[in-house]
Amino acid sequence: MQQFDVLIIGSGLAGLTVALKVAAEKKVCLLSKRKINDTSSSWAQGGIAAVLTNDDSIEAHIQDTLIAGAGLCDQEVTREVASHAKETVEWLIAQGVPFTREDDGSGYHLTREGGHSHRRIIHAADATGHAVQKTLAEQVLSHPNITVLEDHIAVDLITSRKAGISPSDQQSNGEALGAYVLDNKSGKVITIAAQHTVLATGGSGKVYLYTTNPDVSTGDGVAMAWRVGCRVANMEFIQFHPTCLYHPEAKSFLITEAVRGEGGILKLPNGKRFMPDHDKRGELAPRDVVARAIDFEMKKRGIDCVFLDISHKPADFIISHFPTIYRRCMELGIDITREPIPVVPAAHYMCGGVMTDHIGRTDVSGLYAIGETACTGLHGANRLASNSLLECMVFGQAAAKDILAQAPKESITLPYWDESRVTDADEEVIITHTWNELRRFMWNYVGIVRTSKRLTRAMHRIQMLQDEVHEFYSNFRISNNLIELRNLLQVAELIVKSAMERHESRGLHYSKDYPEMLDVAVPTVLEPSNYFSLLDSEHGTESLKNK
Ligand code: FAD
Ligand code: SIN
Repeated sequence: MQQFDVLIIGSGLAGLTVALKVAAEKKVCLLSKRKINDTSSSWAQGGIAAVLTNDDSIEAHIQDTLIAGAGLCDQEVTREVASHAKETVEWLIAQGVPFTREDDGSGYHLTREGGHSHRRIIHAADATGHAVQKTLAEQVLSHPNITVLEDHIAVDLITSRKAGISPSDQQSNGEALGAYVLDNKSGKVITIAAQHTVLATGGSGKVYLYTTNPDVSTGDGVAMAWRVGCRVANMEFIQFHPTCLYHPEAKSFLITEAVRGEGGILKLPNGKRFMPDHDKRGELAPRDVVARAIDFEMKKRGIDCVFLDISHKPADFIISHFPTIYRRCMELGIDITREPIPVVPAAHYMCGGVMTDHIGRTDVSGLYAIGETACTGLHGANRLASNSLLECMVFGQAAAKDILAQAPKESITLPYWDESRVTDADEEVIITHTWNELRRFMWNYVGIVRTSKRLTRAMHRIQMLQDEVHEFYSNFRISNNLIELRNLLQVAELIVKSAMERHESRGLHYSKDYPEMLDVAVPTVLEPSNYFSLLDSEHGTESLKNK
């Protein structure tokens, strides 16, 4: 058993922020299921929203966030995040993040994105995430108090309740004590004990066939938290980014919203502009509106994609603002300075997640959820562009402060992972097939436009696959793919359940059966105890291996 003060599961911006903020005083273990920089954070393009000029205001940032969130944002949280944006950006600048400056060097260049009333997105050309991640990861890797374990995937959280250590209060979920972690290289499961555990596992885009997300985005944090009794909220609000590159050789490549912010125009294959027919804000309408408009046009006309055209701007402007996109498109034979870019919507961001309070605490004592895996109340029914990196940092800092304020606890010896009753899997191929099946029907039945019938179909299939995977999980030695598939199925179930509970269309959730928005906005909160007793046998078999 390895022992740390703080176990952080995830090496994206949320995890890196917490790690750097507590490391002066705490011994930290940071897990990454692939390499440290294999994160959504690294792939972020557009930038970070923050009020940095006098012609903008925190009130305007708050209003834009609330409007995008369609009545479901937590106003206090929104104010808190918008008010701390400037200082978090200044912290990044102090760490050495090379944000793009104005051509005349007068200050930082701010770009504009859909739903923002002002230019307020600070960025590093079109590879902001890469610049931020690289800068912070270098510091984490060289910090004497931080142990980074790459290629290590957390399997399940250990709580006092699950381990049967001190469930004095039968209603309580107990206390977080660490996690079981699979070392992907050796195939061994290790036990990591910690006084505080932070879920910073990112989103769940891989539950859909088409996504802008990297392969690591399999919703592990939400699934793990749910299994130890945490509530999850607003899982039906999956954000589809309107413009993912459409090309047979391009896997999950985003065309940043900043292209539209800088004047890019969406066109049909015949060259006709179509966004003004859908919304008076045109290409700069919030993403749910733009994604639905594209989906509508594609289905109505039977076309495979639409086109995003920025070629009317000077070539040197395009190349200097969007060097990454320019290069990638060029590799695929598309010269964006001369021709439009083929694009389609793709699953991009999970607005819901593990329910937290205003400092990232969950329903399990000592367990925090930060970043995309959390539902803090900031995004409501639809996240405003470039508010996510900001949220990772604001909540990362708040959680770190809370961790530092707590007195050390006595260490506890935890039960080891027991594999004595399992064998090697005989049919690994089933895992791949199930994964493909899940992603395809989630795309078809639980996508941009939903119906009750499609949701019911999806739920039946999820339950069938869950039974199969459950049996597989109980009888065979675990692998990275099996862990991820089990989690994806759990997340898919939560998305569909939440979607079924919402009898209206709001923000990112659009149902043909309930096209109207209700007068009162209510979040969808799912409680594990409503679906299974935390101590019942079904839940128990999930953790057979560590009994
Ligand atoms: P991530 O950065 O995704 O990191 C997750 C980490 O968790 C990874 O290290 C992963 O290995 C690890 N992990 C997951 N499960 C496990 C497990 N079981 N065990 C161990 N480790 C695990 N937002 C903005 O605000 N501005 C933008 O410009 C922007 N552009 C984007 C562009 C793209 C292409 C994408 C995909 C997203 C973009 N977003 C943007 C959204 C934003 O990047 C993410 O929401 C944010 O980076 C999430 O950070 P995170 O730290 O929560 O998770
Ligand atoms: C983008 O650059 O379009 C993505 C921004 C975001 O997801 O916030």
